[in-house]
Amino acid sequence: MGNFQKDISIRNEAVPTRPTFGILIETYGCQMNVYDTQAIFGLLDPSHFSAQEDELAADVILLNTCSVRDHAEHKIFSRIGEIRHRRREAGLPYPVIGICGCMAERLGKNLRKGVNPVDLVVGVDNYDSLPGLLHDILDEVGSLPRAVTGHRADTHYVAPPALYPTNNSHLVTIHKGCDYRCTYCIVPATRGPQREKDPEAILREIRKIVAAGGREVTLLGQNVSAYHWQKELDFAALLEQVAAEPGLERIRFLTGHPRDMFPHLMDTIGQLEKVCPWLHLPIQSGSNRILRRMKRLYTRDDYLGMIEYARRVIPEVSFSTDFIVGFPGETPTEFQDTLEILRAVKYDQVFSFKYSERPGVPAARLEDDVQEQEKKDRLAELIAVQKEIWEREASGFIGQIWTAVVESPARRPKGAWRLRTANNRKVVISGMELEVGDSVSVRITGHQNTTFLGDAI
Ligand code: SAH
Ligand code: SF4
Ligand code: F3S
Repeated sequence: MGNFQKDISIRNEAVPTRPTFGILIETYGCQMNVYDTQAIFGLLDPSHFSAQEDELAADVILLNTCSVRDHAEHKIFSRIGEIRHRRREAGLPYPVIGICGCMAERLGKNLRKGVNPVDLVVGVDNYDSLPGLLHDILDEVGSLPRAVTGHRADTHYVAPPALYPTNNSHLVTIHKGCDYRCTYCIVPATRGPQREKDPEAILREIRKIVAAGGREVTLLGQNVSAYHWQKELDFAALLEQVAAEPGLERIRFLTGHPRDMFPHLMDTIGQLEKVCPWLHLPIQSGSNRILRRMKRLYTRDDYLGMIEYARRVIPEVSFSTDFIVGFPGETPTEFQDTLEILRAVKYDQVFSFKYSERPGVPAARLEDDVQEQEKKDRLAELIAVQKEIWEREASGFIGQIWTAVVESPARRPKGAWRLRTANNRKVVISGMELEVGDSVSVRITGHQNTTFLGDAI
């Protein structure tokens, strides 16, 4: 069994009494980082660290970072400069700045050098060293190495449920890393090999969430559909076990790999009432040649066949996806094949990105030959085509009655609530007193982009 939080907290107790420091953790990138940020808070002794939201009030600022595209990393470098600038302007001393997450893993101690070096670098499997390291820096002991990275097979962090904001879905990371080698992708390098959390640990975590009032979980991983525990229990079997937890009402999951969406998994999703009928299945491209060059391990027909099967066995199922445009060698015709996929599937939501070359990944050996302006144009065209398809789809829902669960107050209009349907459609309603977690019947009256407007009935 891995190093779970209970072992780690014993180490925290050894830290002697000291003043309270303000800490701000900014989270970038994917949900895995959102979960890890909560796990880091769980590792820090609350009598020594108080969470801050303002960078001017924090003694320590940790940036939990993403390396997936070049732009994501640039954002962090400018953020480090900005934090220091704002502190200088306010006449405040520089805070301790630390880098966590994927950039920490990718760049390691290089982040401690250069024009804007940081004080601390802690990679994705080493957050348990943060309490000791922060003690070392803040109490000026100064004896520990300031860059701790490298993958540890058995380390799985657990985010304590009480630290979550009162929204509906509690993230539960079920495994880390990735064993696929999509040629464009940095994640296998930053997150390491796929390693499963013990199903017993997952169930314990979910029981704690339920005991703390949670009713919904989102099972998280780069590749949840490839979950397998000691060859005995696959993702479908894990879903069955999670669904058997009393008190839990809804289960979502992110991200499934199309390659592992086997018929028996889709059957299970369709049969288990608690499992929400929403599949986020990144296709990346509609061209078989590009899919091969990306090493995605499925063809467009495999993918479309899977969508068709899912529609048959999962009532009310909705789909979302990711695309990369301008992958090396993508021709205008191959890009048109991608647009065809939009028309064939009719996704609820599409996340699309311009290809960004990542150092050291296999695709970096291919010439990044689609010009930047061409990538921009393809991205804009994809977004426009999806918008047109979605406008038609969404208008067809007006007048329907959906069941949706209250997630939070809406930002606009005042007094309105934000709800989500089981198949992941956002709905805003106003004009009544509600509570987070309430289930409401809503008549759909309109929509703005992917958010629907409705009246409670
Ligand atoms: N594990 C998930 C996705 C992880 S990364 C999966 O396999 O689908 C999230 C998304 O970022 C990917 O789906 C892809 O669309 C995009 N992405 C990853 N690497 C990229 C790169 N080098 N350039 C542009 N987009 C990229
Ligand atoms: Fe990256 Fe591919 Fe793994 Fe997803 S499946 S994390 S895209 S290597
Ligand atoms: Fe980014 Fe790392 Fe997630 S690269 S997308 S934060 S796994």
